[in-house]
Amino acid sequence: MVKVAKKKGKFYITTPIYYVNDQPHVGHAYTTIAADILARWHRLKGEQVLFLVGTDEHGEKIEAAAARAGKVPQEFVDEIVGRFKDVWKKLNISYDDFARTTEKRHENVVSKLIEKINENGDIYKGEYEGWFCVPDESFWTDLQLKNGKCPECGREVQKVKEEAYFFRLSKYQEKLLKFYEKNPEFLSPKLRSQEIINRVKGGLKDLCITRVALKWGIPFPLDKKYVDYVWFEALVIYISALGWLSKDFKKFWPADIHLVGKEINWFHAVIWPAMLFSAGIEPPKKVYAHGWWTVDGRKMSKSIGNVVNPIEVAEKYSTDVLRYFLIREIPFGEDGDYTEKALIARINGELVADLGNLIYRVLSLAEKFDGKFVGKDEISKKLNLKKIDEHMERLELTAALLEIWNFIHAVNKYITDNEPWKLKGKELANVLYNILESCRIISILIYPFMPETAERTALQLGVKLGSLKDCKFSKFKGKVKKGGYLFNKIEISE
Ligand code: MSP
Repeated sequence: MVKVAKKKGKFYITTPIYYVNDQPHVGHAYTTIAADILARWHRLKGEQVLFLVGTDEHGEKIEAAAARAGKVPQEFVDEIVGRFKDVWKKLNISYDDFARTTEKRHENVVSKLIEKINENGDIYKGEYEGWFCVPDESFWTDLQLKNGKCPECGREVQKVKEEAYFFRLSKYQEKLLKFYEKNPEFLSPKLRSQEIINRVKGGLKDLCITRVALKWGIPFPLDKKYVDYVWFEALVIYISALGWLSKDFKKFWPADIHLVGKEINWFHAVIWPAMLFSAGIEPPKKVYAHGWWTVDGRKMSKSIGNVVNPIEVAEKYSTDVLRYFLIREIPFGEDGDYTEKALIARINGELVADLGNLIYRVLSLAEKFDGKFVGKDEISKKLNLKKIDEHMERLELTAALLEIWNFIHAVNKYITDNEPWKLKGKELANVLYNILESCRIISILIYPFMPETAERTALQLGVKLGSLKDCKFSKFKGKVKKGGYLFNKIEISE
């Protein structure tokens, strides 16, 4: 059996902290599920994991959403945060900490960090003149606008001309480029790194870091008539949640992975490390920017009415179906399209036909057998655990899932080739041993992706769900007890 690469120690992974102006949708669920899968995988490896999620609660957009709902901002955000927590519970998100930007622990660290950046000479007062996109909370120059609209989301922008404080982002251009060169894993995946490098090479403008007209924000510590620009404070969540300046900070910092969607790569891969350089803090090890989902070929939007609610999908099909589909449907990192038809095809073709039937068949045969499941390993060479782990380490989640599926296919083939229904005695015991041990190992491997299904499988096999070190053939000690099907076939009405 091939050994999994040893990497004992800690693993700190974060998702973006989502804006609380609206309900969580399938896009938010996607990043959070992917991070959950990685967190669970690293726990299976025996590492000490910190999985951080949270919410971004300040800024103009949220202030406006609260006003529309006829609520004061704090009351409004508390309500939406509750919805995010409910969705994460339903989707089986095993986060260790949920951090909010309205918490004192965050506000204090933000102010201290800004003071530190100022002490290092990287903040100055000037005048900002340009454009601001409220939905994206982003500043743009004339040249950057596309047809007079926000180049990122295509929506209307506001003209802004005000006295403001700036962060000397331009000072960090060379340092950033050197850092990317020395740490080729930092900008991930590869398909997105060049875009960032080119933009940084093209020159960096200093960043406006205050808003004057806004009330709903953290007071700017150097001049209380301003509040902090929301991105300049939101990024700080990744260190405020760890208690920057406390003695425990180094236990998890630097972060191993900031997992984000591609549209906010710039903030994480450029602005954030520059802020950290300025404050003398080590940058994270990796920023991974995954792709975007469209729905039925179109951008997901309220006005089109095609926003996919993850709770509805989980209730209709199951949480594990949603988790599996999102990771399996598009190669992790790339863009892709969500359709219910594709989801049903994957349920019927893969979850029911490959996995569900395998477990059901194995347990039916095993239950009828009254001897001991003893035998000699004939199948473990079909399992490439090292490859699965390498894919997981490189965040190739879809490829890892496919490699697990290769083993599932191999076990199905082993059953077909050996026709255990025609066997008796020792020969039958041997085949049953092989397929039961395989299913036990499969239950561990699918756990990060489909935790409930993994637990149900282990329960039916009568074994305790193991960790990665248990993914080797040994004695089968389970007391099998067949339950229902793991997945139900979906009939498609025309
Ligand atoms: N508040 C900022 C993040 C601050 S992090 C310090 C923000 N919030 S957001 O609510 O707009 O969430 C954006 C993130 O949601 C994306 O980066 C991505 O992780 C996820 N997605 C939102 N829509 C998505 C798709 N249609 N497809 C894939 N992921 C998407 O930006």
